[in-house]
Amino acid sequence: MKTVLLTGGTGYIGSHTAVELINAGYKVVIVDNLTNSSIDSIEGIHKITGVRPDFVKADCSVCCEMESLFKKYNGFHSIIHFAALKAVGESVEKPLEYYHNNLSSLINLLQLMKKGGGGDLVFSSSCTVYGQPDSLPVTEKSPYKPATSPYGNTKKIAEDILRETINVNSSIKGIALRYFNPIGAHSSAEIGELPLGKPDNLIPFITQTAVGIREKLQIFGNDYDSADGTAIRDYFHVVDLAKAHVLALKRLEENRNKAGFEVFNVGTGKGVTVLEIVKAFEKVSGLKLNYEIVGRRAGDIEKVWADTTLANTELGWKTQSTLEEALLTAWNWEKKLREVKSEK
Ligand code: UD1
Repeated sequence: MKTVLLTGGTGYIGSHTAVELINAGYKVVIVDNLTNSSIDSIEGIHKITGVRPDFVKADCSVCCEMESLFKKYNGFHSIIHFAALKAVGESVEKPLEYYHNNLSSLINLLQLMKKGGGGDLVFSSSCTVYGQPDSLPVTEKSPYKPATSPYGNTKKIAEDILRETINVNSSIKGIALRYFNPIGAHSSAEIGELPLGKPDNLIPFITQTAVGIREKLQIFGNDYDSADGTAIRDYFHVVDLAKAHVLALKRLEENRNKAGFEVFNVGTGKGVTVLEIVKAFEKVSGLKLNYEIVGRRAGDIEKVWADTTLANTELGWKTQSTLEEALLTAWNWEKKLREVKSEK
């Protein structure tokens, strides 16, 4: 059985990927420092798959902690690196924390891989590397625009670090998946997005408003160039994203990644406005959402959606769930969380 290390594996995307990897027959080891996730995800993964992944609490940006982890498992067949700080606004306030955490964790992993700790790496990148593109949809060849935040810059620099390292180390192969906007939760409602404190992202803010934790959703700007004036993103189901990671690992294993380092957009190829999301949520939940329009959020771009041709043809990946299905799972997850909390 191939052992895969998931850094940040108790987090939102990591936990859903752990489920898909276990279902695909991999042994999963999770390392996480639990600063922005809960150990409860391990129980959720166990409930869904019947398998409890190994869990090690450690910080990927601390070199000696990673050394002990790699020593304990005698290296890994492959690594999926999710662990990162990810709040765009916070990154503007705390650039050093973001550069230090997000880049030193990747460097630590690559150094250990160079010493024989593993050969295949899948990296969590983001559509943020494109900034505001000149033309849409964006392809992997679209030119980079200046990053709008230190967070965005860490993703761009991380891709450069990977490309340059892999260029001169033939034992390492890598794929960066550039995520657009993953949403939703596992259909079992055993795992999902669990923001600590006030959510930054749209969907948890919507579900928390609908469940009564937040008074109203603030929609950031209605003066963008879109049909209803609100910003456009490419939202897709997190379980579909999780499956893209399994396909990326398979591609690395089958040696179809001849370039050494490759990047793939993962999204639906369809742009949706914030107001369209609100309406779709109201439809699936049967509720009216309290919201107001406020000014634009600093650092936001106007619109972005993916050209997913490369992922479709090379990875054999395509989204399977609709926007409504994804929103329904997010809503079911939120309701279940509140039931569990009120029982405690
Ligand atoms: C951003 C990054 C993405 C990163 C993610 C992590 C870009 C283009 N994308 O996603 O790479 O992985 O953060 O957090 O930089 N909105 C509201 N009200 C809210 C929250 C959001 O109107 O309370 C709007 C935003 O203005 C935006 C849309 O909803 O237009 C989506 O926002 P969000 O869920 O935060 O994701 P991004 O900003 O697209």
